[in-house]
Amino acid sequence: MGKVTVFDHPLIQHKLSIMRDKDTGVKEFRELVSEVAMLMCYEATRDLPLEEVQIETPVAPATVNRLAGKKLAVVPILRAGLGMVDGMLTMIPSAKVGHIGLYRDPETLLPVKYYCKMPKDIAERDVIVVDPMLATGGSATAAITFLKEYGCKHIKLMSIIGAPEGIKKVQAEHPDVDIYVAAQDEKLNEHGYIIPGLGDAGDRIFGTK
Ligand code: PRP
Ligand code: URA
Repeated sequence: MGKVTVFDHPLIQHKLSIMRDKDTGVKEFRELVSEVAMLMCYEATRDLPLEEVQIETPVAPATVNRLAGKKLAVVPILRAGLGMVDGMLTMIPSAKVGHIGLYRDPETLLPVKYYCKMPKDIAERDVIVVDPMLATGGSATAAITFLKEYGCKHIKLMSIIGAPEGIKKVQAEHPDVDIYVAAQDEKLNEHGYIIPGLGDAGDRIFGTK
């Protein structure tokens, strides 16, 4: 079963507490999504392989560690996942970015796909799917299934808040996928919103409400 990592780092928790506050405005919310994504990316890439290379410092030869050139891709689930992309690219600037557009039907809560554009070599890349909210898990599982159909073999999921229902669904349908969250919240309400959560992430990032 996929591992679930909850980041308890004080900086992440502090920033998340401000994001949850209903009085936090669009500008600050957007900045915080990006900053939290950057901090989470730092932790979620801990297992990237390194290789030794020989260099010369200004004073002596040295053997140093560099990233082994693993190919990475970040795949945001539109819209809200877009808010996490800049933070991810600050940490891994050479990653390519694929986009999956999904929205959740408000009646059925099922994901509806409306857009997809992947890098040509996506099947050869390790993929980190980003979406601030993992609620029922419908959107994340659909996005991961889609990436597997493209041939992707190494996929991680990074969400800022996860509900137990969504985490369980991803673990059941994609046991090979590790999940990274900044918080695991209590439950979903009858409209599929995470409680206590932070509201509608897309609306809060883009100011559409
Ligand atoms: C939100 C969120 C996730 C999805 C999570 O997107 O960004 O993609 O809901 O819910 P789920 O786990 O139950 O599928 P939404 O459908 O509101 O679209 P948006 O990002 O365009 O606002
Ligand atoms: N999508 C959101 O943006 N927020 C929730 O709480 C659930 C789904």
